[in-house]
Amino acid sequence: MPTLTTTQSPSAIALKEEFVDKVNSRTAHIGVIGLGYVGLPLALLFTEQGFPVTGFDVDRSKIDMLTSSRSYICRIPEADIALATSHGFQATADFERISSMDAVIICVPTPLTEYREPDLSFITQTVRSVVPYLKPGQLIVLESTTYPGTTAEIVVPLVEEGNGSELRVSRNEEQGGNVVFVAFSPEREDPGNNTVARSDIPKIVGGMDRYASEIAAELYGSIFRRTIPVSSTGVAEMTKLLENIYRCVNIALVNELKLLCLRMGIDIWEVIAAASTKPFGFQPFYPGPGLGGHCIPIDPFYLSWKAKEFDFATRFIELAGEINMAMPYHMVEFIAEALNARSKALKGARVMVLGVSYKKDIDDLRESPAITIIETLQKSGAVVGYNDPYFPRIGKGRKYDLQLECVPLQDIGQYDCVVILTDHSSYDYAQIVQDAQLIVDTRNATRGLSSTKIVRC
Ligand SMILES: NC(=O)c1ccc[n+]([C@@H]2O[C@H](COP(=O)([O-])OP(=O)(O)OC[C@H]3O[C@@H](n4cnc5c(N)ncnc54)[C@H](O)[C@@H]3O)[C@@H](O)[C@H]2O)c1
Repeated sequence: MPTLTTTQSPSAIALKEEFVDKVNSRTAHIGVIGLGYVGLPLALLFTEQGFPVTGFDVDRSKIDMLTSSRSYICRIPEADIALATSHGFQATADFERISSMDAVIICVPTPLTEYREPDLSFITQTVRSVVPYLKPGQLIVLESTTYPGTTAEIVVPLVEEGNGSELRVSRNEEQGGNVVFVAFSPEREDPGNNTVARSDIPKIVGGMDRYASEIAAELYGSIFRRTIPVSSTGVAEMTKLLENIYRCVNIALVNELKLLCLRMGIDIWEVIAAASTKPFGFQPFYPGPGLGGHCIPIDPFYLSWKAKEFDFATRFIELAGEINMAMPYHMVEFIAEALNARSKALKGARVMVLGVSYKKDIDDLRESPAITIIETLQKSGAVVGYNDPYFPRIGKGRKYDLQLECVPLQDIGQYDCVVILTDHSSYDYAQIVQDAQLIVDTRNATRGLSSTKIVRC
């Protein structure tokens, strides 16, 4: 890594070319900050392609696990971590090592505050930890989902003001070489979806200037089959939000139609299957007990918040949020009605929840509607048990403290009602229907099975 002063420094173009050479020769050292669901697979992908990779995290338990080749994400086998380690991958909390990276990719959380406003503290803390160790020629990429403007308005000033040196962010004009390059490139992964390999998901990149765009595209082009350069960081940030808002709004639409169909005695699942035969103009979305995960329930509100700065009300987002947020409470009403139809009160009823992760076949509980449903059932006096092959216990999270142990499936018959909240593939639904006294199915997991015990909602 060159150590430069303003007077002797090469141009931004020379730094860019040096960076591209390092990418092509696989000698560019990649630093990935935030080794969670996004950062860890990305670090492994770069390692697989022959790059020297260092992962940074503030969570020591993750670093200890990775250092001993253990995995904390169930879809990442330990063998993959062991292989990456044998190829030089290291995890560390020592940010001084940023100084020997060529690219620094930030994949830290972007949650909402309790008042549903963007919480950028993880990004700002990360940038502050990185800034003292920045060197000319490095590329900094933000991958965390956030509102348009974050890279230019938050990251860039922190880099330039916090550095205490002459280091600037490259902005096209012919300048000396005391520059770092800054870009935004959203992560577009769909957890649990194995139909598209991660490297086949086209990678959007938007730089603060053309040099940043070019080197970010070059870097990602070495691990992704296709990169899509866009004209600015703002376009890249907004692209990711459009994708997630599209999902959020369409899920809300189908959730609302499901509530109507239930009242009208029409099977929404049959309707969606029929509509899906249209060869154009229709993409199916499926109803469920509510939204979950770190993205769809949260990201749209990053944009609503930013829109207020422009005196703009994002009504679709607010309405979709309102409908989706109400879904878990509707589910509790359906459970109460199903019990009532069998002359049982919710208060005192034994209710078994099947599947607590926010979607099938993944080990992610963040924002899962199951949490709200379990808490609401408990508040109503139900005795709640749960089963989920991915969660032996549910302890304390950011917004909950349940302290429940996973109940064996064999105990199903002891419960007044079994509620299917997440349709994990490993469940034998025919057996569940046979063993249960009453089933409330929120995912159409029992399709094809016929029993008076099943209530679909
Ligand atoms: N999970 C997904 O499927 C997904 C998909 C697309 C986009 N995203 C976005 O990617 C970003 C990361 O999400 P994730 O699911 O990987 O989160 P995560 O919580 O799984 O991982 C984030 C990691 O960052 C670490 N971290 C927090 N503060 C840090 C700091 N100051 N320095 C270093 N490490 C720090 C945490 O310890 C954690 O290991 C979010 O903005 C999210 O919206 C996530």
